[in-house]
Amino acid sequence: MKFFLDTAKIEEIRRAKELGMLDGVTTNPSHVAATGKGFRQVVDEILAEVREEPVSLEVVATDTEGMVREGRELAKLAPNVVVKVPTTVEGVKAMKVLSQEGIKVNATLVFSSLQALLVAKAGAAYVSPFVGRLDGIGHDGMGIVEEIRQIYDNYDFATEILVAAVRHPQHVLQAALVGADVITFRLETLEQLFHHPMTDVGLERFLKDWEKVPQ
Ligand code: E4P
Repeated sequence: MKFFLDTAKIEEIRRAKELGMLDGVTTNPSHVAATGKGFRQVVDEILAEVREEPVSLEVVATDTEGMVREGRELAKLAPNVVVKVPTTVEGVKAMKVLSQEGIKVNATLVFSSLQALLVAKAGAAYVSPFVGRLDGIGHDGMGIVEEIRQIYDNYDFATEILVAAVRHPQHVLQAALVGADVITFRLETLEQLFHHPMTDVGLERFLKDWEKVPQ
């Protein structure tokens, strides 16, 4: 399973890289706003740091023509750019045009397995079900991921399942068990995966015992 970082903050991207766990980056307009910097500056910084792994950049137009125009511009920035397009009627039409031109698309704001079926048919490279936001309204976010896995396997769709809106390490575990291709999370969640209190206690005990070993 690939680990993407869900952020536009360059320091966080550098930290995930240093941990050796950065397989890609997903941004969105809210993440860009949180940096306090301009879009172009943020994108240039990220693309200078992440040269091979996929970097999702989101369009902000809401009509097909505008999304296609923005998507083409974004794709020109670097070969590893993936164009993030919202899963609306206009968006799915744009996904098809961009995918047919060989531009990789990340279908974002997916909340049902039927939307996932549509975007796979439109040729999206990634589908992003927002599991945490579904859980937040009392639905079963990971249940949707399970359904998408089954649908894609039934028909051999190549679209990769990118679990998004991740809230905690249990989401990571569930995504891995279901066979999601990618998970995108915040740096905090990635860091949490490394830690277990018994690892710390065990290490402390080993080091204490080691002091008794004649040198
Ligand atoms: C995915 O690509 C999105 O950027 C992201 O996961 C949104 O999640 P949020 O609900 O934490 O904003």
